[in-house]
Amino acid sequence: MRHASLDIIHAEHQALAAMLRSLQMLLAQSRRDGKTPDFEVLRAMLFYIDEFPERLHHPKESELLFPAILARCPDLAHVIAKLDQDHARGERAVRDLEHALLAFEMMGDSRRVAFERAAETYVRQYLEHMAVEETEILPAARKHFGVDDWAVLDAAFEANADPLTGHLAQPDYQPLFQRILAHAPAPIGLGEAKDA
Ligand SMILES: [Fe+2]
Ligand SMILES: [Fe+2]
Repeated sequence: MRHASLDIIHAEHQALAAMLRSLQMLLAQSRRDGKTPDFEVLRAMLFYIDEFPERLHHPKESELLFPAILARCPDLAHVIAKLDQDHARGERAVRDLEHALLAFEMMGDSRRVAFERAAETYVRQYLEHMAVEETEILPAARKHFGVDDWAVLDAAFEANADPLTGHLAQPDYQPLFQRILAHAPAPIGLGEAKDA
């Protein structure tokens, strides 16, 4: 059975994973070509990753989904504590990465390796974080939530997506997403995927 709350989380994970993998590909491509990467696209990608999960995705998980899971599955407390910790550190981590990118852009090749390593670590940890949610949290919800749990959670998620609640809604990010799409390599973008 489908549930709006899980569908929303899952769709956002897919969009974020595509963006993270595209960032990796963009860096690999520029390294292979011996050129500096397209800094404008990289900046747009990091800005998107910075804003979208922090303002829209993580709050839904930490404020709505995780407490409901914890109430039904106390044995997942340690997993949820780690995921919440990742959320709390997420903003700092992406700001550090944005600074490392700026250093690369301003200072040139001497800062390239530092940025590339930081980007690799960031992408790996973020993908791992989402994998834990997909393999431990979402299946636990499917297994343990009752009809009443779903009614509350789905209603909260649908309300949360409403711009009138004060949360930024996904449509606000569409122009930025489209701009990235136009320049980024596949699988996310329409740009040329040289290593496809
Ligand atoms: Fe998360
Ligand atoms: Fe997530």
